Amino acid sequence: MYERGEPGHGASWAGAGMLAPYAERIDDEVLLELCRVSLALYPAFVQCVVEASGVNVELPLDGVVEAAFDVQRLDALVAFARELIARNVACKLLDRNESLLAEPALGKHILGALIIEGQGYVDNRRLGRALLAACRTRGVVVHAPVRELAIECDERRVLGVRSELGFAPASVVVNAAGAWAAQVPGVPPEARVPVTPVKGQMLALAAPAGFLRRATWVPGAYLVPRPDGRLLIGATAEDAGFDERVTAEAVHRLLDAALAAAPSLGAFTVTETWAGLRPGTPDGRPFIGPTVIDGLLCATGHYRNGILLAPVTADLIASFVETGDATPLRAFSPLRMVEGASRITHA
Ligand code: GLY
Repeated sequence: MYERGEPGHGASWAGAGMLAPYAERIDDEVLLELCRVSLALYPAFVQCVVEASGVNVELPLDGVVEAAFDVQRLDALVAFARELIARNVACKLLDRNESLLAEPALGKHILGALIIEGQGYVDNRRLGRALLAACRTRGVVVHAPVRELAIECDERRVLGVRSELGFAPASVVVNAAGAWAAQVPGVPPEARVPVTPVKGQMLALAAPAGFLRRATWVPGAYLVPRPDGRLLIGATAEDAGFDERVTAEAVHRLLDAALAAAPSLGAFTVTETWAGLRPGTPDGRPFIGPTVIDGLLCATGHYRNGILLAPVTADLIASFVETGDATPLRAFSPLRMVEGASRITHA
């Protein structure tokens, strides 16, 4: 593995680790199904990473909350609950008192809430550390940080990876460079996927452990707790190129939304602010699988769902490398947006 910075410190580090495809309101049924499959893989994935690394990673999947503070939003939640029930997704509508019992941190002016069961969050930073340790114990060689990284190809196939460490021949190279996937030097234009950065700014407060119990969506923000009490507040979605600055306006907006929903947060210390770049794609679907260059694969473009989609992406890529069968990847093929590439078929 070659990593430009610190492993796991890109969007994987910047996110909140929410495992909540329904709260994300994904309209694309094919993508939603991929998210559902990946969510189902999560407990076994985390257990495997914990066992291999010895690093404990908590996985609270006891529901996510959507809170309503006005009638219009409450009506929308009631309609959404009906839709979820029709899809056999377990959920519960709470009245005002039940909402305050479930999440006492929310403001007294709450009208109601929806709990979507079986979803939650993972501490993405801890998962990243654990995954790195697990990979090392399984024999993965990690080169990081690597500054002069390029993929080498001839007209037909990938040859390997070149860096300041020299040339490493490889019959398969997976471009998993997130928002930077289109910028990796050496990728031929016909194998370059149209991934663009979508900036997300966030901040963390020091709250008492258990202050908020579940990942909670409120108007204008989401609030995600950590077992140690840290409370994450996110996130903006900005078309700002590769700008990773934290701006006063974004912090102001996020705090405004969080404090309107849970005024008692106002007493807590702001411990961190940060920004990350999600890899966005023109149709909202990730790029997973082979490109027109034999052996050059992509695993990127997961936009707001990279942490959630990690296990299924790994399974799909591993299975393609083992079998050469791209059929299960068709809907996410990197070829779908490369002009002329649809004429080229892969085994
Ligand atoms: N998954 C939420 C976000 O990207 O902000």
